[in-house]
Amino acid sequence: MANVNITMDGKALSVPAGSTILDAAQANGIHIPTLCFLKELDPRASCRMCVVEVEGARTFQHACASKVREGMVVRTDTEAVRASRKLTLELLLSNHAVDCHHCLRIGSSKCEDLDPKFCEMCFFCDCVKDGFCDLQALAREYKVDVLPFAQKHNTYPVDATTAIVRNPNKCIKCRRCVDICGKVQTVHNLAASGRGCEVTIGPAFGKAMCESDCIGCGRCVEFCPTGAIYAREHKDELVYCAHKDGMTTAAAVSMDLIPELERVLKLKAGSVTLFEIAGALKKIGVDTVYDMHEAEDAAKAQAEALLGEKLKSGKSVILTNSFAAKAFLENNFPEKKDSFLFYDSPIAVFGKAAGADKRFAFGAVGNDASECEKTGCVDIAVNPRELSRIMIRTGSEPNPKRTAVFASLGLPGASGKFGRLLDKAMWSFDAEPETFDLDGRKCVICHNLGQARRVLEGNEAFDVIRVVA
Ligand code: SF4
Ligand code: SF4
Ligand code: SF4
Ligand code: FES
Repeated sequence: MANVNITMDGKALSVPAGSTILDAAQANGIHIPTLCFLKELDPRASCRMCVVEVEGARTFQHACASKVREGMVVRTDTEAVRASRKLTLELLLSNHAVDCHHCLRIGSSKCEDLDPKFCEMCFFCDCVKDGFCDLQALAREYKVDVLPFAQKHNTYPVDATTAIVRNPNKCIKCRRCVDICGKVQTVHNLAASGRGCEVTIGPAFGKAMCESDCIGCGRCVEFCPTGAIYAREHKDELVYCAHKDGMTTAAAVSMDLIPELERVLKLKAGSVTLFEIAGALKKIGVDTVYDMHEAEDAAKAQAEALLGEKLKSGKSVILTNSFAAKAFLENNFPEKKDSFLFYDSPIAVFGKAAGADKRFAFGAVGNDASECEKTGCVDIAVNPRELSRIMIRTGSEPNPKRTAVFASLGLPGASGKFGRLLDKAMWSFDAEPETFDLDGRKCVICHNLGQARRVLEGNEAFDVIRVVA
């Protein structure tokens, strides 16, 4: 595609025609804040955080939705732009149950500068997203230290009927969750209802999450920029169980949690090892610690055995070890049930094999908490943010001098005979489906549920369809 020449903050840039101002800024290391924007989806342009000045335009432009033009002159960080963004934040916060605003430093530093220990030990803050919240980070960046407008926040009940908890009082109506659930996962469980200030985002007809069509994939949790949707936490219960006399505890830890753990603890990328996490869990009081990799390999071995048998029938196979994908397939494609092949997830494998009164799974997967609640595969699923808080509270941060070795579940490993078909595959909202040939069989791996729907409803025939949720 041809390039166009623009000027951004005084810099001459050559950027692909058809890019947005935000694309051009991001490609050239210029920071423009966003809240509602989700890469790869059509911009909603609803939050106004990304406004910029464009020479000749009578009003501010949304960088996420405005395309570049030849000769365009853009200013992303003028006093007027900053004042507009700050006003947007003040208005958002005037209609928001701000539980983190007691922090005297909220206006005096950027979120990245705060010591996570301070946030965890602070008794004034009562928000699960404190320290990890995009709205809070922007309030700090724009020094929103007083809220100038009358506080008119709503007092809707918190919906804690499932492991995915909704607190509408912290919702900024960015609709990221609506798009992830509807456009990407094609579950369409979340929608906006009401008008003006009364708009709420939630399941249709005001249903509670437990009565709704939610399959528990957890992707809305991952993309909500505030504490309006989050996975229920159990850190107090975990620490209690780990310390309780006479109660045996076991944990499995996945490598996947390390990057996020390092980020939230503000440690150098690549500096934390799984052995240090095992050491920390031992210090907290967990009796036996396993490497989740062993459970992943055993899950793969289980899939190899089941798939080998199923393929003998000559029918096509729709394969998954995600409880959320299982629910999606059963709800939407019951006519294909003879092709379904469900096998255990790693946390289910660990939960079945570990002999202990309480079993904890530590991972980064957004839907572990739902799987734990819906299937009872383990007692508590812990995400990296929760783990960081547990570590801070108990003085057990990763330490190279405090490591532990992993116990073995004693399970058989996989042979690898189905190659990449059964390799670890991650959920993604923009990765293309992977199609490949395996010993003359046409295979595809779908990286989200919308992709799976398109493949299952499409005309192209596959011998094996693997679904990641
Ligand atoms: S959602 Fe964010 S801004 Fe709102 S109270 Fe929680 S941490 Fe603060
Ligand atoms: S967990 Fe998944 S299905 Fe449920 S509301 Fe969130 S995105 Fe939709
Ligand atoms: S629940 Fe979260 S993601 Fe959904 S609209 Fe509200 S703030 Fe945005
Ligand atoms: S990020 Fe552009 S309007 Fe929200």
